[in-house]
Amino acid sequence: MFEKVSSIIRDPSVLDYDYVPDYLVGRDSQMASLELLFRPFAEYTRSCTAMLTGPVGTGKTATARFFCARMAEYCTSHGRPLDTLLVNCRNRNSDAAVTLAMARHFDKGFPDRGFSSDEMFRSFRNRMRESGRSLVIILDEVDVLLKRGSVDIIYQITRLSEEIRDRGHTVSLIMISQESVVDMLDEASLSTFRRSNSVVFERYTHDELREIVGRRAELAILPGCISDDALDMIADNSEEYGDARMAIELLDRASNIAEGDTAGEINPEHVRSARAMVYSAVSESKLAALDINRKIVLLAVARAMKTNRAIPSSVAEKTYAVVCEEYGVPARKHTQFWLYVQDIEKTGAIRTLVKNGQNGRITMISLPDIPSKVLAAKMEDLLEKAIPGGAA
Ligand SMILES: Nc1ncnc2c1ncn2[C@@H]1O[C@H](COP(=O)(O)OP(=O)(O)OP(=O)(O)O)[C@@H](O)[C@H]1O
Ligand SMILES: [Mg+2]
Repeated sequence: MFEKVSSIIRDPSVLDYDYVPDYLVGRDSQMASLELLFRPFAEYTRSCTAMLTGPVGTGKTATARFFCARMAEYCTSHGRPLDTLLVNCRNRNSDAAVTLAMARHFDKGFPDRGFSSDEMFRSFRNRMRESGRSLVIILDEVDVLLKRGSVDIIYQITRLSEEIRDRGHTVSLIMISQESVVDMLDEASLSTFRRSNSVVFERYTHDELREIVGRRAELAILPGCISDDALDMIADNSEEYGDARMAIELLDRASNIAEGDTAGEINPEHVRSARAMVYSAVSESKLAALDINRKIVLLAVARAMKTNRAIPSSVAEKTYAVVCEEYGVPARKHTQFWLYVQDIEKTGAIRTLVKNGQNGRITMISLPDIPSKVLAAKMEDLLEKAIPGGAA
């Protein structure tokens, strides 16, 4: 058992989502901006702030980590020790959850119950004062926190930096978000977070994506086990979104698919199969957000589609009745079914087209990107989560 040695993959950890590369492609200007913004912090221990914004997979988190690691090396070697704390606000989406993460920075065993936010913050503040080390707090995906109305923690962190300023160490703050959050901050925090602190991340170009995935492949894949065509195709596929995460996910999945194949290398066909899987992962949140009725309609469309290019909506509606029975949910009338179909079309999972047939107009439904089998399996999975044990 487990004795089979990989014939394609050299080091899978290089493809992990939290791997920090030791070279960032195309991010020199963002690194230079950060260096400028944090010079007072690195040189004179003055508290600084930065706001990183840009679309999905443009390297915001990777750049923040990379920059902080470099800055920590510099500061530590100049006798000013520096720590970094990254808090993902999607996972910790309340003041209390963020404060707990901060308290745990100093005390790993800090209990998650029994203390108010104020008490946790006080513990953090006292330990911070005593520590003799500066700290950069990175609030990643901070928009999730701010949308829930939690602005207080930002204000508290910026105030704290003023309080401990004279002690030879301080706290700095980096906020990361896909959209601009300046409008979500209150007046008090806004005064510290000026627009000029903002560092913007653009979508990657085709060439940058090709270089990112090429460099990552050199570390992750055994020599000679991926073709240039496959690498080009990964760049082609992720170019539309300029998204480096998509490129690396494609490499990861293609390498796993190739591992189970006899070809001995990753070729374009493996990338195509990976693309089908990654697409469904990309839009998964949209599919997950559909209510049960719409999930059932989409499952019915996927099942009815089989290998066809498109099917008449009446065929999907028949399958819909069967699927409703399977999940013990009442089937809605034709008009409602049609409204569901139109709603689902907005997610991009299906497409509809009205055609003139022999017996009048008919509506055809197609699946533009996701293989029907993949979609059906995904919807069954989501429905199982929504109605545990629901299917007979
Ligand atoms: N310039 C780059 N060079 C090498 N790898 C990169 C670069 N930019 C991003 N990556 C890699 O791409 C993936 C996604 O990057 P990252 O997580 O930083 O994106 P992000 O902008 O934070 O996205 P999101 O908004 O979804 O959080 C990571 O695996 C990261 O290591
Ligand atoms: Mg990120």
